[in-house]
Amino acid sequence: MDPHTPLDPGPSSQELLFSLFTPEGRENPFPALEALRSTEPVYHDRDLDTYFLTTYAHCQAVLSDSAFRTPDLEWCADHLPDWREHPAADFFYSSMLRANQPDHTRLRRLVGAGFTPRRVAALRGAVEELTDGLLDTFADATAHGGTADFQDLVGYPLPVAVVGELIGVPAADRPRFRGLGGDASRLLEPVRTEEDWQRADTAVTALRGYFEDLLLRRAAEPREDLATVLLAAQEDGDRLTRKELVDTLLLVFVAGFETTTAMLGQAVHALLLHPEQRAEVAADPSLAERAVDESLRWDTPVQMTERIAGAPAVIGGVEIPAGGNVTTVLAAANRDPEQFPDPHRFDLHRSGTRVLSFSAGPHYCLGAALARLEGSVALHRVFTRFPGLALAAPPVRRESFSLRVYEHLPLTAS
Ligand code: HEM
Repeated sequence: MDPHTPLDPGPSSQELLFSLFTPEGRENPFPALEALRSTEPVYHDRDLDTYFLTTYAHCQAVLSDSAFRTPDLEWCADHLPDWREHPAADFFYSSMLRANQPDHTRLRRLVGAGFTPRRVAALRGAVEELTDGLLDTFADATAHGGTADFQDLVGYPLPVAVVGELIGVPAADRPRFRGLGGDASRLLEPVRTEEDWQRADTAVTALRGYFEDLLLRRAAEPREDLATVLLAAQEDGDRLTRKELVDTLLLVFVAGFETTTAMLGQAVHALLLHPEQRAEVAADPSLAERAVDESLRWDTPVQMTERIAGAPAVIGGVEIPAGGNVTTVLAAANRDPEQFPDPHRFDLHRSGTRVLSFSAGPHYCLGAALARLEGSVALHRVFTRFPGLALAAPPVRRESFSLRVYEHLPLTAS
């Protein structure tokens, strides 16, 4: 080789970042994320005017620091002048997920009452029963060598049913939520198209109508569910407005099932790819919980989340001005070799470090314990009941960037 030939500088940080939006990048984002973390762990993309963080330490520090705020309704009003024409924007940016103090603390405290360890533990029986019922259907569908879509029969209906139990959505109403939830989730995309907005607006309007109606039913006939608990808080005084009440139920519902569907599909798939570990999970229920966490790390459902610098900050030597947009790339943080040795290896025996899949700090996922419960019950039961479970065809991912989720996971059970 001619010693004067310049070395190929490799792809730029922007090329690496933008490659994530291609079909290949969506399928396997990890080489690009690794390259970005090694070359520019705090990368400012000028076109998107956003700082992308790809190390565990930086993501963890930003998410835990309340000086980094969530983009709330005030931020939305500055950046999306026509937000009033979008019910989905009004819902999303004023919800607990995007609210800052003091509203965030107030809303979270009220809703937290529905997620106490006691309340979650009390749902175990329901989770087991629902799982068994859905696996019966899956067994029928795969009897005699048939192929069935795990996501259709278990991955979607299980989380919808569990969050439905928690909130108090009657079983007969649940099937209609799959499409609405998917459309509302378009709000999580880092770049939203006109079509994303239309779908999200329609879904939010329909879901608001549904929860308004559910609250009227609960007012007439109280039950032991989150809708009734929050209704009592609203009627108690000025702690929660009617709109906040409706939107909070909507948030818990949507946040509670699409993400869990993603986790279930990815965890089952990961174990199918690792037969020895799958046999361990079938033999020991306590390992199912570990498999859930390892799959959340290995194939992170919510790939990224955003914050706004409340004051000038320096991260990894890079100055971030007040108001700067910061994106913590959770999928990259969870594969940071500084934190997880040999990070691309799926190993349910890892211990020590908390995965960032449920975020960290004030907005740490309220449903994490419930999601872990659903995942561990489902994994153990799936792999004990169907020892011959196998992929029937390659799984199909949704065309989404923020949420990594299988739409279809075709399996055979014999
Ligand atoms: C594996 C499943 C799940 C994953 C991966 C997940 C992920 C997350 C993440 C990353 C956040 C924080 C986003 C941020 O910091 O900006 C979050 C917040 C939240 N999640 Fe989950 N979630 C899951 C399941 C659930 C379930 C089952 C529920 C409820 C039934 C739930 C309810 C919520 C709520 C209400 C918040 C907002 C908390 C706040 O802003 O204070 N999630 N989730």
